[in-house]
Amino acid sequence: MLTEDIKQMLSTTIKKLTGKVPESIHLEPSDNPDHGDFSTNSALTTSKQLKNKAPLVRGGANESEQGVFSSPREVAEELIAALPENDLISKTDIAGPGFINFWLSDKAYREAFSWLNNKIDQNSFGVLDIGKAQTAITDTSHPNVAKPMGVHHLLSTIIGQSINNLLKTCGYTLIKDNYLGDWGTQFGKLTYAIKTWGHMEVIKSDPIPELLKLYVKFHEEAEQNPTLEDQGRMEFKRLEEGNPESRKLLQWIVDLSLTEFQNIYDRLGVDFDLMNGESFYEDKMESIIKEGVRKGIIVEGEKGALIIPMNDPNKPPAIIRKKDGATLYATRDLARIKYWQDELKGDLGINVVDIAQKLYFEQLFESAQKMGFTKMKQVHIDFGRMEFPEGGMSTRKGKVVLLEEVLDEAERRAYEKIESHDSELSEQGKHELARIMGIGAIKYNVLSQNRNKNYTFDWNQMLSFEGNSAPYLQYAYTRTQSILKKVAEDQNPRLDDPQLRVYEPEEKQLIKTIISFEDIIKRSLENYKPNLLCTYLFELAQSFSQFYNNLRILDAESEEEILTRLQLVKDTAYVLKKGLEILGVEVPERM
Ligand code: ARG
Repeated sequence: MLTEDIKQMLSTTIKKLTGKVPESIHLEPSDNPDHGDFSTNSALTTSKQLKNKAPLVRGGANESEQGVFSSPREVAEELIAALPENDLISKTDIAGPGFINFWLSDKAYREAFSWLNNKIDQNSFGVLDIGKAQTAITDTSHPNVAKPMGVHHLLSTIIGQSINNLLKTCGYTLIKDNYLGDWGTQFGKLTYAIKTWGHMEVIKSDPIPELLKLYVKFHEEAEQNPTLEDQGRMEFKRLEEGNPESRKLLQWIVDLSLTEFQNIYDRLGVDFDLMNGESFYEDKMESIIKEGVRKGIIVEGEKGALIIPMNDPNKPPAIIRKKDGATLYATRDLARIKYWQDELKGDLGINVVDIAQKLYFEQLFESAQKMGFTKMKQVHIDFGRMEFPEGGMSTRKGKVVLLEEVLDEAERRAYEKIESHDSELSEQGKHELARIMGIGAIKYNVLSQNRNKNYTFDWNQMLSFEGNSAPYLQYAYTRTQSILKKVAEDQNPRLDDPQLRVYEPEEKQLIKTIISFEDIIKRSLENYKPNLLCTYLFELAQSFSQFYNNLRILDAESEEEILTRLQLVKDTAYVLKKGLEILGVEVPERM
């Protein structure tokens, strides 16, 4: 395929020049026609690599027979000169510090287009096999039971969903786990509070807020009466010892919470294969602690706790067991890692958890490493904090912003927007569209931002029909559908052989953008950055808009033009839909 062919050529040429196959080659569609069709930074990376090796002295003893490269521009020249004879590239030039721009031949465009149409007809475009024969296990969403889901759980849930979808489309065997927070001393306190002040009926009527109230009450009372802390600990001990009554109570709390969480998951279209919460590992920790102690990896720290010291003496140790014998968050995570590798036979473990736990995950992974749980590669995909602008979403006097309220608000605002546009949809249709637009807007708003920064939350931007937003992309999709609907089923366009025409710039722009889709999927997964896919889809929608505004489609001059353009509309629709599907954003048929 086109871009792969060019990459291959570049790769062999670089190998010829340097003796080494480059790790990866980036080929970007250029957005300015003066800079050709695609460009690559390969000359820059190659030159940097050469520089990092022993300096080559011109004419000196260690000058290699391939020549001496100093500047990236020179490397670029060498690269271009050494490219094999081919009929795909019609022109090249060097820009800026050493970017190589390529112009493609019409033949290359026709071949690419034909390849693309075939893949799209078979529904296999954007379906890759990078992860073939590998099992990825993901840890996403993971709310704490008996507490409402806050907005930061939106991030781990939504970013998690898109990473899951990326893994899936890249061919991994995927196990989606929801590592619920359902264990720890706080549940001793909560069960104590329920037993002391709780009423089952009241809790059942509105579970999470009521449980939260009881938890808060415990802390208020404990301030007056410190012996309550001991009572809480005793209750937790009962739980740990498997006291049936206590266990039953905890299970009840978990079930009530899960029912509430499920509402949100349904609205977000999120699902899981496993719900192995922290409590699942309760009986799997002791053997690990014993083994660690026996091997001298887990040692006694200050105040009688059991710890795993870190290599870096400035890093605090991982605490594995408290002095009173209680296990911790880290103990359960360690057991989880072992379980994932030994029982679930995972190859890649992915934890989508906010940046606040960065140090924690470093300690955890180093501990797992020391314990010899190394069969799986573990990654922590961190993300920043959500920042609400003034008046954006009331935080109810410093309390968490409830996820449910954010979703309601999004749908409400989307509905208003639809109303203000004189929509011809039925009332039911409007509500359905408001749901698709509102939820899509929230998700896309999260996913289109760089996860390494803090998130901004801007209702107007996220529901805008103009900017880099879900509604803009959804609208572009509905435009493709309204064109395709005008073509009767029986004359569904089929362009068996791309015609021997020279394409218009708008057509070329679309072809080369569409063809980069698989590359973007790969890069989004490699970097665990769904925002790369968002930017790409936004660019695709813009290219489509140019094409749609500047060229005639159904009433174009010739049959060939009509067919080519209809096929392009189909291809655009395919990629928009598939791309948004990966992001977990639904597309409406009309707007
Ligand atoms: N339940 C935790 C919380 O809400 C997050 C769990 C993250 N995952 C993990 N493996 N520790 O903060």
